[in-house]
Amino acid sequence: MRAPAKLNLHLTVGAVRPDGFHELTTVFQAVGLYDEVTVRRDDELTVKVTGVGADLVPLDATNLAARAVCLLAVQTGHDPRVAIAIHKGIPVAGGCAGGSADAAAALVGCDALWGCDWSRDRLAEAGAELGSDVPFALVGGTAMGTGRGDHVSPVLARGTYYWVLALAADGLSTPAVYAEYDRLNAGLRPPEPQVAPALMAALRAGDAAALGAALSNDLQDAAISLRPELARTLTVGEECGALGALVSGSGPTTAFLAGDEEHALDISFALTRSGTCADVVQAIGPVAGARPVGGG
Ligand code: C5P
Repeated sequence: MRAPAKLNLHLTVGAVRPDGFHELTTVFQAVGLYDEVTVRRDDELTVKVTGVGADLVPLDATNLAARAVCLLAVQTGHDPRVAIAIHKGIPVAGGCAGGSADAAAALVGCDALWGCDWSRDRLAEAGAELGSDVPFALVGGTAMGTGRGDHVSPVLARGTYYWVLALAADGLSTPAVYAEYDRLNAGLRPPEPQVAPALMAALRAGDAAALGAALSNDLQDAAISLRPELARTLTVGEECGALGALVSGSGPTTAFLAGDEEHALDISFALTRSGTCADVVQAIGPVAGARPVGGG
């Protein structure tokens, strides 16, 4: 299976819910940076991880792909003893939903392995239990997320967008970024999460410049507060004429929208030269959600 990274083109954070999660409204886009996940029957449930940041991914029962296998096994009455092999292309703890991508891929993989033939919607409903971003990782494309981000509906989006992602050397903890958001906004009345009319219109029109101007992320200040150097990375991309620049989700990955492929290369070079990030990758969006390699 191959499962894509996500960017949040728009993220507004609302009130804390009784379950401790924040109410939010977001617009996701799946971009062409992938984790590859293989599942095959074995004598026990095991997890092997390779690729960038592999040493940071848990190999025990807390691994999100392992949890996905167990969840589907329990719900369908199958034997959870499978060998899971994950090759990371998505930054670990980077704000691009790499763990959720692995969970989504494991769900799709075991659904095929066991012949369950569950619909995407049913997998998404089950997957929401594993993480807020799992339903979107199954759907992909460009989509609106509400609730804690787990209620996903497609958004009309035309065009292809050229993204440059600046990766940080060390990850950020999502709960820590939300906690910092709460600290920075303490005493303020939580806003009603808003959809962004300008952003939706830009996506409908396939207008990259308008999309760049409409990008926004309520978690950005919290991520920068915990990792002040992200502000420098954002400035480098902006000075290179990025149509828009923002922290991806809870960070620390930063995303820059380019006008075309050549512009994406210019931004990549500038970011690499600046020394303000650990790595730079280019990715096109939107792309499909978790699916078998070679179609399916
Ligand atoms: O669902 P996920 O595993 O991505 O959430 C990780 C953590 O991020 C949660 O435990 C919570 O602290 C925070 N979170 C939140 N509100 C959301 C999504 C995540 O507070 N809507």
